[in-house]
Amino acid sequence: MMSQTGKSFLSLSGISPSELRELLSFATRLKAEKKERQFPLRMAHKNVALLFEKQSTRTRCSFSVACRDEGAHSDFLGASDIHFGKKESLADTARVLGRFYDGIVYRGYAQATVEALAQYSGVPVFNALTDEEHPTQALADLMTLQERFSHLAGLKVVYAGDAANNVACSLMQACVLVGAHFVCAAPQAYFPPANALAQAAEICRSTGGSVTLEENPLRAVAGADAIYTDVWVSMGFESSSDAEQKLTVLKNYQVNENLMAATGVGHTVFLHCLPANKGFEVSESVFEGNRSLVFEQAENRLHTIKAILLSRMT
Ligand code: CP
Ligand code: NVA
Repeated sequence: MMSQTGKSFLSLSGISPSELRELLSFATRLKAEKKERQFPLRMAHKNVALLFEKQSTRTRCSFSVACRDEGAHSDFLGASDIHFGKKESLADTARVLGRFYDGIVYRGYAQATVEALAQYSGVPVFNALTDEEHPTQALADLMTLQERFSHLAGLKVVYAGDAANNVACSLMQACVLVGAHFVCAAPQAYFPPANALAQAAEICRSTGGSVTLEENPLRAVAGADAIYTDVWVSMGFESSSDAEQKLTVLKNYQVNENLMAATGVGHTVFLHCLPANKGFEVSESVFEGNRSLVFEQAENRLHTIKAILLSRMT
């Protein structure tokens, strides 16, 4: 594994295709190690702060278990546990945490916050989800696809629903980095933001990946290897002006048996970062069906997060 010690993991932008591939093969080795109950404790005596301003099951537990498996200690600091952003500024909290901890994991709102934490703390900071990006999720998504198809370049991955959200934007970045074909099946209002599209287009020039925007969901999924969706209303956006309207506008993008059949191929898999809102972005039958890899994907959060932590903290 190429040494990236001390570097923060804030986004997939700035990560090279070769680093991404190395992280994936490292995660595969770590998964095998864990199945064999090998625990080399590569992070012994390290301390990691888990600063979470939003709820989490998979990401929180992945960081926490990854730390324990590797001999590190983690402290969970929830939204109301510390002075962060209330009685103490971001810069001051970051400088204090940087003197106690060897790494900081942050889940919250603005991408600018995770960037400022990295700037002021002086220790590696890990983005555990912001409004804009969810980079650790995208790594698990790729790992799950690689396990199923044994390759990533050339795969057609369709994201149906709110393609402007954090999960979709990071997935798009990840797909183009490995030379996959990413398709957004969404109304134009929910296509990824222009800066994310421009960045992805630039990466495609060297990797052979592509991005397609398609408002017609049935056309979008033709020949898809994977269909991915996520909740229509993300954490922190519940009272945004379009939250209610999205439930109607995105109805036609629900991943259900009709949409799966519209791929015209039998091998299409279903992916979801979870938690899922069944009956909205995905039907119960697709979620529970034999094409659904959602729990493999959830498990892979642990192995990929462990790979990221080890690559930056040892
Ligand atoms: N997929 C994901 O990030 O799940 P959690 O919100 O449970 O961490
Ligand atoms: N887009 C979702 C992902 C949750 C893992 C959210 O931000 O709430």
